[in-house]
Amino acid sequence: MDTNENQTSNSGTIARFLGRKKRSIWIIGGIAAFVVVAVIVIPTSIVLTKKKTAEIASTTISREDSTTISAEVSTVNAHFKNWVQTNNMKDSRKSHTASVSKNGKVLVVGGYIENSGYGVSSAELYDLSTATWTLTPPMNDKRCWHSASLLLNGTVLVAGGYDGEKDVSSSELYHPETEIWEKIGNMNTQRSQHTASVLSDGMVLVTGGDDAGIALNSAELYNSSTGTWTPIINMNYARKWHQATTLKNGKLLVTGGSSGSENLNTAEIYDPLSSEIYDPLTGIWYMSGDMNCARFGHQSSVLPNGTVLITGRPKG
Ligand SMILES: *[C@@H]1O[C@H](CO)[C@@H](O)[C@H](O)[C@H]1NC(C)=O
Ligand SMILES: *[C@@H]1O[C@H](CO)[C@@H](O)[C@H](O)[C@H]1NC(C)=O
Ligand SMILES: *[C@@H]1O[C@H](CO)[C@@H](O)[C@H](O)[C@H]1NC(C)=O
Repeated sequence: MDTNENQTSNSGTIARFLGRKKRSIWIIGGIAAFVVVAVIVIPTSIVLTKKKTAEIASTTISREDSTTISAEVSTVNAHFKNWVQTNNMKDSRKSHTASVSKNGKVLVVGGYIENSGYGVSSAELYDLSTATWTLTPPMNDKRCWHSASLLLNGTVLVAGGYDGEKDVSSSELYHPETEIWEKIGNMNTQRSQHTASVLSDGMVLVTGGDDAGIALNSAELYNSSTGTWTPIINMNYARKWHQATTLKNGKLLVTGGSSGSENLNTAEIYDPLSSEIYDPLTGIWYMSGDMNCARFGHQSSVLPNGTVLITGRPKG
């Protein structure tokens, strides 16, 4: 028993001694490791941090040097993950249009003020750099439910709409350099709630819409070289509140809309290349497959891979 106790107490002493020794080895080792970390790792990380700062600084400087709009916009996007309220427009409006012009300003045109009359002629510009709105001269005509198309050379073509009493056929050009509205030839048909799409060659194709409450199947083409409107072959369906999207292959996809009495799920395609020569005036309309549901007042977007995404429709 004694021997056992002694052995136990001896081994306990040895264990305590070894434990102390282990502890002091750990402590010494720990201090040594800390010194190594302090001497090697910390300065390295300071150097790395400095290097990173320098890289960021040089990136910022080169961005400022090149002053490309896209770089500045992406910088802004990187900072704002949420929606940010900007200044109010000068005039209240709905059913207006907004076009991003080549100088980066946004041209907002026409529309109507609820409970105070349909169709306004006012127009204003949003400047992203100052986040301010300024009035630009008003259009020649009042309009809401019109179309606005950015031509390839930066001029904005505004066509048709409703002026508070009737659907109109008038059209006008906005020249961003001079802020002048130039009245041009009328369309062949009065229309509002139509579509206007810029084709690959810069022509603008207008489809359907409403004239005095009746949906239209007519379509016409604006020739940006001559500034004239020419009717093309009619669509298969009369449509208003529909959508039209220029596809990557140069054809125009028209979807849905309202015939006046029913909402449409039909879709049709305009192909300007019915013969071997590209000629929007002699193109053909052909039916595409139907959409899964009837839609009007929807949106249509071409994804980067060419697929078209259709979103929204009235409930019910
Ligand atoms: C547009 O006008 C130009 C100049 O007159 C003409 O050469 C061209 O063929 C026209 N395009 C269409 C599609 O009518
Ligand atoms: C752009 O084209 C339109 C005609 O479609 C013309 O009136 C206008 O002057 C052109 N603008 C420029 C800057 O060339
Ligand atoms: C394009 O992208 C959409 C959405 O991601 C996808 O459903 C579709 O299959 C793609 N089309 C092609 C041709 O890759």
